[in-house]
Amino acid sequence: MSEIQFLKQIEEELQKLSEIAYKNITDSKTNSELESLRVSLLGKKGKLSTILRNMGKLKAEQRPIIGEKANILKMELQELISQKKNKLKDIALDQQINNEKIDITIPSLGTPTGNMHPLLSTQEEIIDIFCGLGYCVENGPEIETDFYNFEALNIPKDHPARDMQDTFYLPGNKLLRTHTSPVQIRYLEKNSIPVRIISPGRVYRRDAVDATHSPVFNQVEVLCIDEDINFSHLRGTVLTFLKTFFGDIPVRFRASYFPFTEPSAEVDVQWKGKWLEVMGCGMVDPMILDRLGIDSEKYTGFAAGLGVERFCMVRHQIDDIRRFYTNDLRFLEQF
Ligand code: DAH
Repeated sequence: MSEIQFLKQIEEELQKLSEIAYKNITDSKTNSELESLRVSLLGKKGKLSTILRNMGKLKAEQRPIIGEKANILKMELQELISQKKNKLKDIALDQQINNEKIDITIPSLGTPTGNMHPLLSTQEEIIDIFCGLGYCVENGPEIETDFYNFEALNIPKDHPARDMQDTFYLPGNKLLRTHTSPVQIRYLEKNSIPVRIISPGRVYRRDAVDATHSPVFNQVEVLCIDEDINFSHLRGTVLTFLKTFFGDIPVRFRASYFPFTEPSAEVDVQWKGKWLEVMGCGMVDPMILDRLGIDSEKYTGFAAGLGVERFCMVRHQIDDIRRFYTNDLRFLEQF
């Protein structure tokens, strides 16, 4: 074979290789197919190398011609392979996106609904009953002054009643309120008679934690001031409230003492054969009203205070106050 024929043959072989390679690369479906194609075309023992092995039979000046063509072909095929690789990547990504598509129109399997904390539902129930009796809800600050928490309620410094209500003291003569009773004073300072309010909220005491004591708990305060309010109104209101909350159970009033009411009483309900103390109450001491500039000859009233935890524990037979605050779902999900 003459050198010219040889040159032609190599050129033809390159041309054929180019056509076949082009078709195979375009037809390839996977990355690994593409990779083995690259090795078989452009690898050391690949088709291009095999063709070029015959270059030695060419004339010296013919070699660069073939060399250039082979290089161009090599670059073209490399480019084609990398383009195809990118295309396959895009297709794979599209497929993945398609497979992972979320159908937001599918009806949900159901999300568990939350429910109200038993303390909150008990408080709501208490509020509901008093709202039904014509009372409005009033709020007061949890950070109080010594004046509203003690002095104005007739509990001066060194009064023994302070011993039972030690609390957490803050700078500036402030403290965390020990009861909701200060709301009585705050409300009377700003509003005129008649008054019928309740005030639910958190209160604080320096108590060691046990099954019935928590340093933070909840109270509801009740205050009614009007003309001609007497103890039978207090008794009627408390009995109506307790009957609505607990049902028809025995209730008794026991004489007691609170510095801001006179006379004062504690109320017990009979629950499972035992008397349980559930609230304190009394006729508002006229001295409290006089100090606020309210005519105590004309206006009288009663007040009461109750612990929400106690009501909730009795109602649901809960044995330990700490269950309310530890967020154990096994406990909370029962309500
Ligand atoms: N503030 C009292 C306490 O926490 C409870 C109380 C008793 C409130 C009698 C009252 C009341 O309004 O009249 O121990």
